Amino acid sequence: MSAPNSFYVTTPIFYVNDVPHIGHAYTEVATDVLARWHRQSGDPTWLLTGTDEHGQKILRTATANGATPKEWADRLVESAWKPLLKTIDIRNDDFIRTTEPRHEDNVQKFLSLLHDKGFIYTGEYEGAYCVGCEEYKQSSDLVDGTGEYAGQQVCAIHSKPVEILHEKNYFFKMSQFEQQLLDLYEARPEFVQPESARNEVIQFVKQGLADLSISRGTFDWGIKLPWDESHVVYVWFDALLNYITAAGYGSDSEKLERLWPATHIVGKDILRFHAVIWPAMLMAAGIDVPHRVFGHGWLLVGGEKMSKSKLTGIAPTDITDTFGSDAFRYYFLSAIAFGQDGSFSWEDLSARYQAELANGFGNLASRVLAMTQKYFDGVVPAAVDVQPADQAIADVALAAIAQADDAIDRLAIHEAIASVWTLVDALNGYITEQAPWALAKDPANADRLATVLNTCAEGLRVLSVALSPVIPKATSILWSALGAEAKLGPLDDQPIRDAGRWGQLPNGTTVSSLEPLFPRIDTEAATETSPE
Ligand code: MSP
Repeated sequence: MSAPNSFYVTTPIFYVNDVPHIGHAYTEVATDVLARWHRQSGDPTWLLTGTDEHGQKILRTATANGATPKEWADRLVESAWKPLLKTIDIRNDDFIRTTEPRHEDNVQKFLSLLHDKGFIYTGEYEGAYCVGCEEYKQSSDLVDGTGEYAGQQVCAIHSKPVEILHEKNYFFKMSQFEQQLLDLYEARPEFVQPESARNEVIQFVKQGLADLSISRGTFDWGIKLPWDESHVVYVWFDALLNYITAAGYGSDSEKLERLWPATHIVGKDILRFHAVIWPAMLMAAGIDVPHRVFGHGWLLVGGEKMSKSKLTGIAPTDITDTFGSDAFRYYFLSAIAFGQDGSFSWEDLSARYQAELANGFGNLASRVLAMTQKYFDGVVPAAVDVQPADQAIADVALAAIAQADDAIDRLAIHEAIASVWTLVDALNGYITEQAPWALAKDPANADRLATVLNTCAEGLRVLSVALSPVIPKATSILWSALGAEAKLGPLDDQPIRDAGRWGQLPNGTTVSSLEPLFPRIDTEAATETSPE
């Protein structure tokens, strides 16, 4: 069992059949904000992400492009998936590919263990398979096709026909774990989140669990079963194991002990794999189940789940090239309640960028530093005449951090940002009320002017630390311009849970000029050039 406050968090591993879109990037940034918050709190933190490279979907795409599946995966990982992490500023601790020996070898160990323990048997299966989902479908998962697929049953997620497969397979005795799973959901209500997802999973399991077909014998792009090399393991069984093979399963038990169990952040489309199949696999092997599984909502475009296959995919760089990575991170995590679906629109992104990042936060920072330069030659003055209005700001800061930390614990990222933003709003209101430019006109107000600017600079210190997990680039520029780097050390070293404690920025800190953190963007040009 890992240390009590250790935080091992994962993203799904992404299929390499295509390049990333903003839905994939959304999962990445959410996970990264959680990891950065914990890391900055001093918690031992580990963020794992990676790619899912086996299975029929990848094999078909590679073949269609005249490449071997491994060549195709190598190309996509290097040209698209690893660069995505840079584009949106992800600070991951590891990146696992399911074609690496550290994964393949230990998946085989896991399979042998389950085989030896009697959890695997041979059988026959006939069912409707969706290659897009890499999953056998129940009739309730199918809908009537439209357009070119009219008259056929299609997968409700991909809107494409399913294939009827009849195979001799190996099966995992998943049905044996039905009661144990129900007991788990009951005993640990936080195991599947949010609540709506938990209820859905419970209903699903209560209807009865079938055994799971875990091998395929009709193609060979996958990990071979150790006892029957004519079969490869089912791609989901292979993929789910990345969370422990990357953490040392089968190779480094000390590491596994330190990291496991993890918090899994996944899209709600793949919640069942993580909340039903995965814990059943772990129970069979005698390994602890995950700490939590959180299913977030979908990014919708035109009311539908955004996807490449439906041609509604938007590349993350379409947004970051114009607005920057901080704005991408801030926008998706503040505008959408984490756990619910959210509609993306260029208009909403532009409006929030302008109102919240440029005017709300960026302007606040520029004004405070400019006034400190103008009235105090750039040296942060001491607070010598503290009045209730100043104390009120300190109180807001303390409460904001405590509430944000509580929200992060509950994985309510949007609430955490809203809590921190109460300080942005409070400081803007405070500046309007205190009107330092008016105080500056009369030397008799010198003590008040000093106190007001001290309060503002201290507020910016708190904001730099508390917002650094969300907008790391802007906050690190502000941290230097505030002179805090020189006095307090690197931004990354500032403990976030202690950030609300007032009075940490030493008097006499020297500020420097600040270019706009979020420059004005010609939003008309930005929205005109963007895809529909
Ligand atoms: N390879 C599997 C996951 C295996 S994990 C052991 C897979 N890959 S995927 O490339 O299809 O990516 C799925 C994940 O991408 C979703 O679970 C979700 O996190 C993210 N998203 C893909 N489209 C999305 C939206 N339109 N909106 C939000 N997230 C979406 O499934």
